[in-house]
Amino acid sequence: MPNVAVVGAQWGDEGKGKVVDLFSERFDVVARFQGGPNAGHTVTIAGRRHALHHIPSGAFRPGVRVVVGNGTVLDLEKLLLEIEGLAAAGVDLEGRLYISDRAHVILPEMARLDVLGETTGCLGTRLGTTRKGIGPAYEAKAARLGIRVADLADPEALLARARVLVDARIGRLLGPGDGAPDVDALVRRAREPWARLMPFVADTSLLLNAWIDEGKSILFEGAQGTLLDLDHGSYPFVTSSSTVAGGLCAGLGVSPRRVDGIVGVFKAYTTRVGDGPMPTELRDGPEGLGERLRKRGQEYGTTTGRPRRCGWFDGAAAAYAHRLNRFDAACVTLLDVLDAFEEIRICTGYRLDGREIRSLPASPAEAARVEAVFEILPGWRRDTTGARRWDELPAAARRYLDRLGEVIGAEIGMVGVGPDRDQSIVRPDSWLARMMGT
Ligand code: GDP
Ligand code: IMO
Ligand code: MG
Repeated sequence: MPNVAVVGAQWGDEGKGKVVDLFSERFDVVARFQGGPNAGHTVTIAGRRHALHHIPSGAFRPGVRVVVGNGTVLDLEKLLLEIEGLAAAGVDLEGRLYISDRAHVILPEMARLDVLGETTGCLGTRLGTTRKGIGPAYEAKAARLGIRVADLADPEALLARARVLVDARIGRLLGPGDGAPDVDALVRRAREPWARLMPFVADTSLLLNAWIDEGKSILFEGAQGTLLDLDHGSYPFVTSSSTVAGGLCAGLGVSPRRVDGIVGVFKAYTTRVGDGPMPTELRDGPEGLGERLRKRGQEYGTTTGRPRRCGWFDGAAAAYAHRLNRFDAACVTLLDVLDAFEEIRICTGYRLDGREIRSLPASPAEAARVEAVFEILPGWRRDTTGARRWDELPAAARRYLDRLGEVIGAEIGMVGVGPDRDQSIVRPDSWLARMMGT
């Protein structure tokens, strides 16, 4: 069996959770490679909705092992609550959850820093982050001041490291007025959940490579989306990790030679939470199309509850995502949200100051001025939520999907027609159908 990556191809919330849950039936292991509790991945099974933040979306398949890789950043208190919440819902992770000993820890003060940066603007541009401490944790990691899961095992060394971290960064940024953190209390608080998470901690790169050697198949689960990638996204309005498929190798300690396939998840339109450029955004008021998309798609953040910005499918951004990831297949989720629209637009390129351009410019000022160029397709005005086969989709919906495939540059292998696990259609005779063994 192959090892396959599933990554977000837009600005996050594309429905990765649903897709990974669906695919994981065919895999032995699901491994998250970046991000942390900024992620909110929804899996709906028989009408019951589960939101995951740290735990990979393979959790609902009892025989599947789930790995939280070295490239992630972890809020240990929240992670523990997540594990307990899943156990209460009948999802037992004992003996099949593996947390990397090299993953970095988000200290409570880091979330405070994140909030401070967002509310006072003291750290530069306001980004509309999830305020979970993601930026400060990755920043400490890159500065070589971070605290990893393994570091929690040695209280004395940990105290020394925490002192340096607080003196050099956290304390300085928070300042005496905001109450410089008490390092002893900080270390005690970090070690409490750690003690209970200990049984899950492992050298996950070692395990993953051994499992691959044994012939097991791994599904690599991305968080956020390609346009939020630290290097390739709309900087500085991005997250702090490599969300593209390439990020999985560093984030898990797995060679690129061991990746056999890459799948991109797209919404049938575009959403974005947080600030930054979004050329296809519909800002047409409470009675407008943007609000219709938001209502029909229930576009409110899984992690923060914020209303998501909504707009038409951005084919220029999608082609860019394909350039960065080279998808073997694309999944298009939330097609059903478009069921009610008379006509549907696809952005096929951009204009900047009267010139045609193919992708977002690097300059934030220019990216903010970019205008989308649209083509218009007819809607289908039929309920697709009950469709279970490709040929049950209305002809206009299939035409829309074919056009999306053309503008992305990759074959559409799956479509979602509702949130439930069952509301998924794999395209017959496609790369994805072969991967799924159907
Ligand atoms: P993720 O972060 O990429 O996993 O996506 P989220 O879970 O944050 O957001 C996707 C939302 O769309 C969730 O509420 C899903 O339950 C829902 N969803 C996923 N696929 C479909 C679909 O095909 N149709 C509809 N109507 N909802 C879907
Ligand atoms: P999933 O995995 C959508 C966005 C934030 C903000 C920017 C930086 O559910 O798709 P951060 O807290 O990461 O420093 O915020 O990134 N963002 C997401 N948007 N889905 C997510 O995750 C996101 N995780 C971060 O809104 O714009
Ligand atoms: Mg999400």
